[in-house]
Amino acid sequence: MSDCEHPPKKPPLAKRGSDLLAEIEATRSDASPAPVPAAVPVSVPVAVPVPVPVSVPVASTDGALLAAATAVRACAHAPYSHYQVGAAVRTDDGRLFSGANVENASYGLSVCAERSAVVAAVSAGAHRLTAVAVVTSSSPPAAPCGVCRQTLAEFGGDDLPITLANDRGEIVRATLGELLPRAFRGDVLP
Ligand code: THU
Repeated sequence: MSDCEHPPKKPPLAKRGSDLLAEIEATRSDASPAPVPAAVPVSVPVAVPVPVPVSVPVASTDGALLAAATAVRACAHAPYSHYQVGAAVRTDDGRLFSGANVENASYGLSVCAERSAVVAAVSAGAHRLTAVAVVTSSSPPAAPCGVCRQTLAEFGGDDLPITLANDRGEIVRATLGELLPRAFRGDVLP
């Protein structure tokens, strides 16, 4: 049984996160294996086709991070929008945290997947992000909303790599600086 069977209108689950990771790793052009932290919930079944690189080389993506974002997406609580989002962040100590979007009947209280992942990381003592992955059903893959970009800027620099992917295997890469130029950060405060 999945840990995430509560969403009422989830699409059929076709592939496990661990399978996705294996497929991603199989397409890497470099031979070095990506580290797989123990805490990553990669065994949750998720609906994801074989990943296909679109705008960037797959070798530059973080397979474990993408697998975690894909897996946690199945846990999204999105009964209102039916738009499931999964996000994962890697921290500077090598740990990996993930989060899904959590909606509320009072719509404005909904929490995005990216902020769920950041809250998980910070709550575990991490304060510096080194990579982010976001998985949705959108084509092209959707980028984080403005609030989430600002949240990421609190814990990552302009060079923070953000991998955007969808459930049909399209992948786009960007940096936080590209998504949020001239970010407002605490260093400007008196
Ligand atoms: N959502 C995210 O999780 N991340 C974003 O960056 C944009 C939107 C979620 C919020 C809501 O549950 C659903 O997507 C539709 O807006």
